[in-house]
Amino acid sequence: MLEIQELHAGYGGGEVLRGLSLGVAHGEIVALLGRNGMGKTTLLRCIMGLLPHAAGSIRLEGQPLSGLDCFEIARRGVAYVPQGREIFGQLTVEENLRLAALRGGTIETGYDLFPGLRARAKDPGGSLSGGQQQQLAIARAMVAKPRLLLLDEPSEGIQPSVVNEIADIVTRSVRSMGLSVLLVEQNTDLALRVADRAVFVDHGVDAASIASRAVTREILASYMEL
Ligand SMILES: Nc1ncnc2c1ncn2[C@@H]1O[C@H](COP(=O)(O)OP(=O)(O)OP(=O)(O)O)[C@@H](O)[C@H]1O
Ligand SMILES: [Mg+2]
Repeated sequence: MLEIQELHAGYGGGEVLRGLSLGVAHGEIVALLGRNGMGKTTLLRCIMGLLPHAAGSIRLEGQPLSGLDCFEIARRGVAYVPQGREIFGQLTVEENLRLAALRGGTIETGYDLFPGLRARAKDPGGSLSGGQQQQLAIARAMVAKPRLLLLDEPSEGIQPSVVNEIADIVTRSVRSMGLSVLLVEQNTDLALRVADRAVFVDHGVDAASIASRAVTREILASYMEL
């Protein structure tokens, strides 16, 4: 459903993505793994239309996304949970969800995913724990019932029990909604447990694509900081 071919992109004069190709099938969870600074976040920003690409193509369901802005890309069914979450800390949990629902959908979708958020509905987003903020960020992304979910390091700074809960919920909603996911994660155990397949990014290119169950320690050692 997502097809990226020979993507080149960067900042100013510096090229970060150097011909990266990658596909995600319907209902598939793909983990995007690689060392710091290899271009994982840059790729997600390109898909979401937050960063232009210099060459190559990005297609969603066969339709090119090149040149579209992030609002149009969201309207076509892509949702992005950025690294660091970026919820509105001053707004309440409910207001965060209501803002997301302006584009369609209902806030109940968010509460159904993470029922714990309901008890915090009137609290400012900034008062939640890291794990709850991540739940809110994912709930907000899911309100519009996306077809493709881009998750950037959801486990960053979150305690393990909450990480597992989030992983279970994401996996379940993927299976029940036919959602596709591109997951960037430094926690490789988590990523390989959740994902069907891992794509390793090395210096801005896709260096390997391997079914999660076939990823060995040796493979991880060659592409990741262990
Ligand atoms: N706004 C920016 N302006 C200039 N350079 C940037 C910008 N954002 C990222 N970079 C550079 O682009 C390269 C790739 O960054 P990117 O954030 O995509 O890496 P990453 O794989 O997500 O790393 P991490 O695992 O640390 O999140 C890095 O060298 C980084 O310093
Ligand atoms: Mg990153």
